[in-house]
Amino acid sequence: MNMKKLLAIFLIIAMALTFAACGGGNDDQAAQDTPMTYKVAMEPTFPPFDTINQETQELDGFDVDLMNAIAEDQGFELEWVNMGFDGLITALQAGNIDIIASGMNASEERREKVDFSTTYYDSGLVVAVKTGNTAIKSIDDLTADMKAGAQIGTTGADLATELFDAGKIKEAKIYNGLDVAVMDLQNGTINALINDLPVTKAYMDVKPGTIEIVGDVLNAESYGFAVQKGNTELLDKINAGMQNIIDNGTFDDIAAEWFE
Ligand code: ARG
Repeated sequence: MNMKKLLAIFLIIAMALTFAACGGGNDDQAAQDTPMTYKVAMEPTFPPFDTINQETQELDGFDVDLMNAIAEDQGFELEWVNMGFDGLITALQAGNIDIIASGMNASEERREKVDFSTTYYDSGLVVAVKTGNTAIKSIDDLTADMKAGAQIGTTGADLATELFDAGKIKEAKIYNGLDVAVMDLQNGTINALINDLPVTKAYMDVKPGTIEIVGDVLNAESYGFAVQKGNTELLDKINAGMQNIIDNGTFDDIAAEWFE
C-alpha cells in the first residue's frame, strides 16, 4: 500500500476520533441539561391528600399539588405511582421509588427506616361510627363484641391491632382501601373506623349524615415526604423547595384549594 493511501486512512481515522470527541461533549452537556425524574408514590383513597380525580382519572390531592410545586421550584420532574400504602416503605428501601408522598406520619418507628422531609401537615387519629350509633361515644366504649376497621399499614391499623391484642375488640378489620372501610362502616359491617381526622371529615363530606366522629383526637401526627435513608441530596431539594413555596405563598394557595 503506498504512502498516499496510508496517509488518507490516517486522516480519516483522526477526523472520526475528533468528531466523536466533540460529539461526546455535546452528549455530556445534554445530560447535564436534562432534569432528574423521580418516582413518587402514594395510595389514593386518602382524600384530600391522596385521591384520584374522577374526571381525569389522574392521581390528585394536596400531596400531589404540593410535591409538584416543590419539583417545579427545584427543577426536577416527577413520575407518579399508585401503590398500596403498606408497600410504600419497602418500595422506597428497595429503590423502586424515590419519594413517598402519601399523608405519612413521620413517626419515630418509620424514621428508623426512611428519612422524612420537613413535616407539612399536623393531624391525628379519631374514631368514627355509623350515624345514629349512640353506643359508642369514644374509643373507650368499644367492647369485645365489636369490630374496628382501619387501613393496612397505617397508624390507625396499629391502634386497631393494639385494641384487638388487648382483648378490647373482637376484630381489627384491616382494609387495603379506606373507601371500602368507610363503606363497611356505613353498612354496619364494622362498628367503628380508626382513621385520620381530616380524611374522615372528607369522607363525611362526600356522604353527609352517614358517619360521624366520636370522642377526642387520639394522638398527634405530622405528615412528611419520605426518601430513602441517606438520600440527603433529594431530601435537601425537597426541604429547600418546601421552604421556597412557603415563603412565596404557594403553599398557602394550595392549602386553600384543598382545605377551605
Ligand atoms: N397518617 C396515617 C399514617 O401515616 C395514614 C396515612 C394513609 N395514607 C394514604 N394515602 N392512604 O399511617
